[in-house]
Amino acid sequence: MSIRQFQAQRMQAPRDFIAVPNTPICVEIGAGKGKHALLFTGQNPQKTLYAIERTKEKFMAMQKQHQLEPRELLNPIHADALPWVVHALFPSQVEQFFILYPNPEPHNPAQRWLNMPFFEFLLSRLQPNGTITLASNIPEYIDEAEQQLLQLWKLPYEKQKIATDSARTHFEVKYLERGELCQQLVIRKPDGYSTRFDDFAPLQGQNAQEQSDV
Ligand SMILES: C[S@@+](CC[C@H](N)C(=O)[O-])C[C@H]1O[C@@H](n2cnc3c(N)ncnc32)[C@H](O)[C@@H]1O
Repeated sequence: MSIRQFQAQRMQAPRDFIAVPNTPICVEIGAGKGKHALLFTGQNPQKTLYAIERTKEKFMAMQKQHQLEPRELLNPIHADALPWVVHALFPSQVEQFFILYPNPEPHNPAQRWLNMPFFEFLLSRLQPNGTITLASNIPEYIDEAEQQLLQLWKLPYEKQKIATDSARTHFEVKYLERGELCQQLVIRKPDGYSTRFDDFAPLQGQNAQEQSDV
């Protein structure tokens, strides 16, 4: 099985893009209202987390909560994660990615994270032995992701059942209250794992002009 190459150089800069220094960081994609982002930075005050959320209302709720619970090293970002990752992140920079309860995309399998060519780019940004935590309440989503890890990405992972009293995100709380099984894959990038983007430097807002013309 193979996958077409992600067209990273075509990604236009996110609006109001601010560059990120090349130091070790954690990144949450689809952070929602920021419950996990606040929890994580509260429990790991020495870690820098960029929490990316595309939907304005949710981003604003995260920002508001961040004002109530200040965290020095939490950076809420209002952007689509794809262009943001391409413009902001350096190769092998990220210690941990979190993708918690992503949209299941029932009619758009190609839009699920591990089915996207973008996933290869994401892997290039991960440190050796860095991890991606992918959680879902949909067993088929987890099963499909596992198949992709085995057959396409060839990456080691651990599959974990989420404790019924866990409450890391708003969606996790909702699903566990309904009695649904929540699971996660903790995917690890082995030492020496290579991608076609390992030498791709962040675009750092290079295409911003084109976007403002649209
Ligand atoms: C089902 S919600 C889960 C939110 C949160 N992680 C939680 O568990 O409560 C999925 C979130 O991912 C966000 N999202 C989806 N695609 C995204 C993308 N490409 N970039 C940034 N956020 C995205 C959506 O706006 C939505 O808030």
